Amino acid sequence: MSKITPQPGILDITPYQGGTAHVPGIANAVKLSSNENPFGPSDTAKEAFRKASFDLHRYPASDHAALRRAIAEHHGLDPERIICGNGSDEIAFLCQAYAGPGDEVIHTEHGFGMYRISTLANGATPVEVRERERVTDVDAILAACNAATKLVFIANPNNPTGTMIGEGEIARLASGLPEHVLLVLDGAYAEYVEGYDGGAALVEARRNVVMTRTFSKLYGLGGLRIGWGYGPEHVIAVLDRVRGPFNLSSAAQAAAEAAVRDTACKCRADNTRWRGWLAEALAEHGVPSDTSLANFILARFANQAEAEACDEHLKSEGLIVRRVAGYNLPNCLRITVGDEASCRRVAHAVGQFMATAR
Ligand SMILES: Cc1ncc(COP(=O)(O)O)c(C=O)c1O
Repeated sequence: MSKITPQPGILDITPYQGGTAHVPGIANAVKLSSNENPFGPSDTAKEAFRKASFDLHRYPASDHAALRRAIAEHHGLDPERIICGNGSDEIAFLCQAYAGPGDEVIHTEHGFGMYRISTLANGATPVEVRERERVTDVDAILAACNAATKLVFIANPNNPTGTMIGEGEIARLASGLPEHVLLVLDGAYAEYVEGYDGGAALVEARRNVVMTRTFSKLYGLGGLRIGWGYGPEHVIAVLDRVRGPFNLSSAAQAAAEAAVRDTACKCRADNTRWRGWLAEALAEHGVPSDTSLANFILARFANQAEAEACDEHLKSEGLIVRRVAGYNLPNCLRITVGDEASCRRVAHAVGQFMATAR
């Protein structure tokens, strides 16, 4: 046996699997498996990226000052309390900084997979707390807290369920947590919710809440890997110590800054419209889903066999969606809300499948 051994917890990790992008034998399949913006980034973000290519021999700004200023201006936040990462790296930073062997990190029953992975990567113990019908259950989380609990991760809206809890419930959770527990509000899909600040006001009001955000979803910049977090000074000062000094490329910083300053995006309205249309169309074919506030819906089938057979049919029609058995939702498929044409194709293909399935 090899004497070279990884740290405790590492071998318990099941590596994260990204959404499939291709179907063998089918050209131009539509990828609806990673909750990407079907329209891509704004023109100004693309132009900023192109311009950045002339300075690629220079190291990027290590303090992300211009990007933090742009984010702060857009959201009305304090730039000194913003931290930027490569995608939602803040999830990993938080676990690295606050959780180690003997500590517990809470995530919800169908919570985003990276919470468990980052917890295990730091030798801490992930604690899965049940949801109520695929919705975060604040009382169950509070009941699961103990002296070993260090972090609680909640995505709001949640992936892969698409459901969210109200700001009153989140505030109740924040004030009910023991003093030594930090609440992490993952707002990867917050931009899709009209009038929702992702938890920013709660961060302002408390010392035990951090918010994480990403440019990968509404801003259509998943390929560049940019995210950010907002938290109390004492937390940001800790996270700044564990991140790499040049953790965001200059091109990423430039594109993200342009994206956040470009307020012309109509993607949210399109998403809301076609999300509702798709959910209704699938329901008419006998495939229900919970009300989603994100850019995907979680379609529920009668059982795992039916979900998998529908997935195969969709693939044969050049439509790639996401199986979520790994999230303990074997009878479901997560379908990203694409453009109008993709939504119509998905509805048609699910209808074709259901006409013969039962
Ligand atoms: C809930 C949630 N948080 C965070 C992320 C990570 O996004 P990124 O690393 O691209 O910023 C995702 C991506 O799917 C997500 O669904």
